[in-house]
Amino acid sequence: MQEWTSTAVARRGELVEAAGLPGYVARLGGRPVGLVLVDVRDREYEVVAISTTAQRRGIGRALMERCFAEARATACRRVWLVTTNNNIAAIAFYQHVGMDLQALHRHAVRMSRSLKPTIPLRGATGVAIDHELEFELLLPS
Ligand SMILES: CC(C)(COP(=O)(O)OP(=O)(O)OC[C@H]1O[C@@H](n2cnc3c(N)ncnc32)[C@H](O)[C@@H]1OP(=O)(O)O)[C@@H](O)C(=O)NCCC(=O)NCCS
Repeated sequence: MQEWTSTAVARRGELVEAAGLPGYVARLGGRPVGLVLVDVRDREYEVVAISTTAQRRGIGRALMERCFAEARATACRRVWLVTTNNNIAAIAFYQHVGMDLQALHRHAVRMSRSLKPTIPLRGATGVAIDHELEFELLLPS
């Protein structure tokens, strides 16, 4: 997606190269309008990155539901992801699609920024980017 400045994603003290990850593209009239990239390890299904070209048109939900379906079909224990304290839209979005806050990792962005120095100090609204919030959807076994 256009707004991505790098293909590397830093979270939970690890730098993940997203370019090689599998995922799904959402299309509308043949045009790509959304992308989700995932990483599956030890029956844990991580949404590493998700982005849409238009907001609040149901594209993000469609991508997440595709991920939930794949996670269920492959007997994953949970779907999880990390966002940051400044991303109010994402925090609302993940809860709307049924995920719950699993952990607040205070000041974790400091470690992520040491791995990826291009993470800005502040978000678009001027809020300091400092904490990582982990959301999850637990799947019945
Ligand atoms: C976050 C993002 C993926 C959401 O995708 P989207 O296509 O706008 O979301 P949808 O239209 O499918 O919305 C799904 C639900 O979330 C809710 N929602 C989405 N954005 C919201 C917001 N800013 N505030 C409150 N609720 C929101 C919708 O109302 C909808 O709820 P409903 O189905 O119960 O009515 C998209 O806004 C985006 O690409 N943001 C920029 C990149 C980004 O921040 N990615 C996440 C990084 S961790």
